[in-house]
Formats: sequence, C-alpha cells, structure tokens
Amino acid sequence: MSGIKLLSTGSALPQRWLNNDDMAKIVDTSDEWISTRTGISGRYHCGQGESHTGLCMAAARQAIERAGIAPQDIGVCIVATLSPDYFTPSAACLLQSGLGMAEDTVCFDLNAACSGFVFALHTAQCLLAAARRKLALVVGAEVLSRVLDFTDRSTCVLFGDGAGAAVVEWGEDYPSLHAVLGSRGNAEALYIPGANQPHPSYIHMDGRPVFRFAVDALPRCVEQVAEQAGITLDMVDYFVFHQANQRIIDFSVKKLGLDPAKCAGNIARTGNTSAASVPLLLDELVRTGVVHSGQRVMCVGFGGGLTWGGALLELK
Ligand code: UT7
Repeated sequence: MSGIKLLSTGSALPQRWLNNDDMAKIVDTSDEWISTRTGISGRYHCGQGESHTGLCMAAARQAIERAGIAPQDIGVCIVATLSPDYFTPSAACLLQSGLGMAEDTVCFDLNAACSGFVFALHTAQCLLAAARRKLALVVGAEVLSRVLDFTDRSTCVLFGDGAGAAVVEWGEDYPSLHAVLGSRGNAEALYIPGANQPHPSYIHMDGRPVFRFAVDALPRCVEQVAEQAGITLDMVDYFVFHQANQRIIDFSVKKLGLDPAKCAGNIARTGNTSAASVPLLLDELVRTGVVHSGQRVMCVGFGGGLTWGGALLELK
C-alpha cells in the first residue's frame, strides 16, 4: 500500500476578532441566538493590509519551517478555497512565487467549498504518486468576510477568515488516506454568484436544508472511511470535523457513539471558515500536542457543492 503522512502544519488568522456583541451592532442579532444555535462566540475578519495571499503565505511558511524542508523540495501545491484574491493567478501560483518553489511544482486551486481541504489531501496523494518530489504543500484558506452580505443576519454572523497549511509526504509503505469524497450538485442551498451572474458575490445559504444534509453526510462519511480502512472508530485518535455548527458535531458524535473528548473543536473562536476550518483545527491540535507523531486523525468536511469528504491521516 502507498499513501501520505502528515509532516507538519501551520496556520494564520487575521488580527481583528469580532465577538457576537460586535455583530449585534451590525445586524439584528444577539449573542444568545448565535451561541445557542451555532456554538460560535466570535470570528476573525481581515482588516486593511490583510489578504488571502498574506494568510496563505504565513500559514505555508510555518508548515514548511516546521517540516524542516525547503520550498524547493515541494512537488505539488494545492490551495483549497472559494474566496481567493484572484480567479487567476491561483492562490497556489502566488505561493509558488512568494515562497520560491521550483517552476515545475504543480500549483493550482481547488474549490470544493468546506470539503476542500480533504479533497486537496486526496488529490495531493494521487499526484505525488507520479511526482518527482514526494512532498506536497496543502493549504485551506478563506477570506469570507469579503463575500458576506452584512445586511443578511442569517449568514454574516456565521463565517470567518483564516488559513491552515500542511506538508505531507508520500511513501510506498505509508498508509492510504482511504478518502471518501462525494458531490451532489445544488445551486440553491448554498452558493456564491460568480463573475457572470448579475448579483454581487455574496454567500447565500438556506440554513435548514444544509443542516439536514450535514447531519446525514458527516456521520455517513465517518462510517464509510472507517469501513474502507477496515478499522473501528475507537482506533481513530482524533476526529477533525469541519466547524460549521456545534449542533451538527454534537448530533454526529452522539449518533456514532464517539468520545466527545476526541472531537473537540474551535468553532467558538473561529466561526465557520469553510476550506480553512479543518486545517486550522488540525494545526491547533498538533501545536498544543493533543495529537502527535504516530497518531491517526480522521478529517471530515461537508458543505457547498454540495460536497463531502473524509480521510484518515497519520502523523509521521
Ligand atoms: O459550512 C457549510 C455548511 N454549512 C452548514 O452546515 C450550516 C448548516 N445550517 C445551520 O447551521 C443552521 O441552519 C443555521 C445556524 C444557519 C441557522 O439555524 P436554524 O436553527 O436552522 O435557524 P433558522 O434558519 O431556522 O432560523 C430560525 C429563526 C428565524 O426566524 P423565524 O422565521 O423563526 O421568526 C430567522 O429569521 O432565527 C432567525 N434568525 C436569526 N435571529 C437572530 C436567523 N439568523 C438570525 C440571527 N440572529 N443571526
């Protein structure tokens, strides 16, 4: 069997943190509504001088430094995002020039919304099998504050900005991710109009159907990954779930009979950061020593597309 292992992580968050009372000054909402319905207490928003590119660079630099490698050692660079600074060049190409990666590095962005980081891990694993250099830089980054309608209380209180990065290494004797990825096209439940659409590029979400989708997709994905890997859920050291709503996580944890201590997240502080959510939490867990070398984490994302994706990732 061949696959990838996690060598290191990195992350970057904007300086400005808005709590729920700050949001209540912008729209008709309350700390009580936001925290009880979602588990969110605050979120980071980019200010002047901060950008998607800047967050990507900072998170990637940390991951590369912690891996003890040089940017030129990287063969594949993927940025999972739906809110890049440019449609083109890709955020990954900007990392290539900004970090000084070699020109034969495969650099591109991947849009699978909140499942993006897991899709990117799987894509990196596939590409690395054929690559000359067996290291990949995988980033999940969003600046959602720039695509929020601050007159729509049903969305603007939910989302935040940030970037998480990972360096992964491919090996012939490394375990497969056993990724389970899925897509169900739906341009009504959750969408951001593109450049060819008459409307401004704001996030639109019909929360209830997306919630129903999420509480089905998340536990199903967890079970399918475990089944594909031939393991039981108690053999997973930690579950890194997309941080969309604490109620979705609590429901899934209960349904699957998981130990809640192995599923704790950071939604209270970060809000929903879409493709950045899983790598931001992963970095926090690695940095604080909650997960460490030799352990196995299951990453699961779900959201826009609609998409879902789960993968088992072992830390080297
Ligand atoms: O990351 C991608 C995947 N995304 C998700 O998984 C998100 C899934 N959906 C959700 O997490 C939840 O549906 C939300 C948190 C978005 C909404 O929670 P909900 O319990 O489904 O609320 P709702 O949309 O059914 O709205 C309930 C009420 C409505 O008022 P009425 O019609 O009952 O009078 C809303 O107008 O809450 C109202 N409301 C608010 N009130 C105060 C909606 N947003 C707010 C707000 N503050 N910010």
